[in-house]
Amino acid sequence: MTDHELQELLGRLTIEEKVGQLVQCNASQFIRNNLEMTGPDGELLPAEELCRVMGSLLTFEDARQARELQDMHLAADPNKIPLLLMLDVIHGLRTTYPIPLAMGCTFDDELLAECADMARKESSACGVHVTFNPMVDTARDARWGRILETNSEEPLINSRMGAALVRVTQGQDLSRKENVACCVKHYAAYGAGEAGRDYNTVELSERTLRETYFPAYKACVDAGVRLVMPSFNSLNGIPSVANKWLMNQVLREEWGFDGVVISDYNAVGELVSHGVASDLRDAVRMSMEAGCDIDMVRNAYYLHLADLVREGTVPEEALNEAVLRVLNLKNELGLFENPYHGADEEAEKQLYLCREHREIARRAAEESAVLLKNEGILPFSRDVKRIALIGPFAEEKRLNGFWSRPGAEQYTVTIPEGIRALLPEVRLDIERGCGACFEDTDRSRIDAAVEAARKADAVILAVGEPENYSGEGRSRAELSLPGPQMELARRVIAANPHTAVVLFNGRPLVLTELSDIAPALLEMWYPGTEGGNALARLLWGEANPCGKLSAGLPRSVGQYPMPYNRTNTGRPKPPPDSRSVPFTSCYLDMPNLPLYSFGYGLSYTDFIYESLTMDQKSMNRDGEIRVTVTLRNAGQRAGKEAVQLYLQDPVASVVRPVQQLIDYRKVALKPGERAEVEFVITEKQLRLVNAECREVSEPGEFRISAGYADHLILTQSFELKE
Ligand code: NOJ
Repeated sequence: MTDHELQELLGRLTIEEKVGQLVQCNASQFIRNNLEMTGPDGELLPAEELCRVMGSLLTFEDARQARELQDMHLAADPNKIPLLLMLDVIHGLRTTYPIPLAMGCTFDDELLAECADMARKESSACGVHVTFNPMVDTARDARWGRILETNSEEPLINSRMGAALVRVTQGQDLSRKENVACCVKHYAAYGAGEAGRDYNTVELSERTLRETYFPAYKACVDAGVRLVMPSFNSLNGIPSVANKWLMNQVLREEWGFDGVVISDYNAVGELVSHGVASDLRDAVRMSMEAGCDIDMVRNAYYLHLADLVREGTVPEEALNEAVLRVLNLKNELGLFENPYHGADEEAEKQLYLCREHREIARRAAEESAVLLKNEGILPFSRDVKRIALIGPFAEEKRLNGFWSRPGAEQYTVTIPEGIRALLPEVRLDIERGCGACFEDTDRSRIDAAVEAARKADAVILAVGEPENYSGEGRSRAELSLPGPQMELARRVIAANPHTAVVLFNGRPLVLTELSDIAPALLEMWYPGTEGGNALARLLWGEANPCGKLSAGLPRSVGQYPMPYNRTNTGRPKPPPDSRSVPFTSCYLDMPNLPLYSFGYGLSYTDFIYESLTMDQKSMNRDGEIRVTVTLRNAGQRAGKEAVQLYLQDPVASVVRPVQQLIDYRKVALKPGERAEVEFVITEKQLRLVNAECREVSEPGEFRISAGYADHLILTQSFELKE
């Protein structure tokens, strides 16, 4: 349709019909079936009426249902405006790849893009028009169960991976049926909820917002993302969906976003619970004033918007603008010509879990695993013939994590399946030992597990957090291994020192004691469909671990918040960090630093960082400096290394981070091979947000280092000239 035709269409709609374009229902609001709910249940509404008016639908099952729903709607809608079908495809549709936090550990934007591309193919075949992805909420507190949905505690990784996902998923031309529109979320700073509790209040200075929290959303807007979802939380006193500064000023005016804003699930209605709207009607007015176009699920717009427009409280002009943005999106997706977009049952059969997709998912699972500790245990030698596979995750199928599609576990490769596929001759003695839930207190099977450990050549101890302990609404105050798992670990490791502990969890856990006693520790996160295959290959050295932590692991929950890029204080604690130093910024009862810092991760080979050189020692604002990091694989195995570049700004007008990641690149090296990894530094990377909240660079000395957080090496300095 041309712009003129869209305007004409808009002109033909009644107020109610316009409002309908801004209403999003969950199909379960008018048909009770086993559709997934992604928020609190809504009332059952008159099916025919809803089906006629609604402009978009959240959550459906497959291509067949996508077509049916579209047909149902088009048959009832006198204006024949196709529905937008939206779904949360976060880390794969049917072929599930690792959770986003794990993907961050790959430090590999290209691998992320490959995964996103496979999700795009499966999603478009399923009939998805819009995916609620990427989630780029920078999160620094693992009590928050949604930390798993973000790539990292580091805004640079979130920005780069978020933008890569948007570019791949949306493609060049959304009207092509294989492309899917993206919705970036949750704008803004949803990850900074007080005390790590989901939906909780956020208080942050504008300077911190602009420096740390905004960049990743902005990167996605710059990459052309078509939708933005405001967050549930209040930000400095105002819930995001009603936050005019956030939405109208920053998002639309400053960043030039011209796409659709869609509320989160019932977030409009929740303005009443926040206590900023007197009733639902007031909530609708406030959300419209803040430029929220679509009301997700709980019918606030459906019930009140038409009246508000008729009485003049909400100008019809504002309604028209919102509707036009929605119609534009439908038009960009080519829905007026082809309302089914990519929905295709044949393509679903060919693509879902196909060999090629499984291969990508397996590689991603291997490259996102982080080897935290290894005292010569791993990789297992081929002589290891008898393995005790112990722990609540020994045969677990739910290794996919939050936002995997319902039923995803039936396709998951378990650990025994992965081991048997790789090494059919290995004898596996499987003992669960105990459960992994809070309420699991039964210790009666630990003895049998210890017995199996004693008889084995080596032990794989699979522990972690049940899949439903992280994700939306799943905050925890303690981050220990739930149930009797630590007791199991103590006894099994004592019985057989040849134990490799593997972890399945959706957030950084407190592993202080476990890491003390475990001879080897491999963090698998939720690896997805190919988890068992990836793990077997990692354990026996067919794959070499190369993941680096995308968020630090604390020694204790009491250390939160503990961003790796903390700023200095007036009384920094001098090294070593092992004991407290009076009257410095430290704890009496533990070190300041995390147990494992951001960017840390071991390999089966040894990478030696030989040098860091610069082609110049000073630059002007329009100049650049080439930094070359030389590293060598000094070990016996091929491996990959994520080379990380950190910045320090020793003196500035505002306090600066003690270390700031400014670039990264993953390289593959054969044994003995050397690589010169080149980075280009420009003025943009040296900027800070000053006391007036303006992004500026300040002349003076800067330092550049390689290494990982809290372990900077090969530091060199240069000067930015006036
Ligand atoms: C609520 C979640 O906060 C959001 O991330 C998700 O996209 C919507 N529900 C839709 O399921």
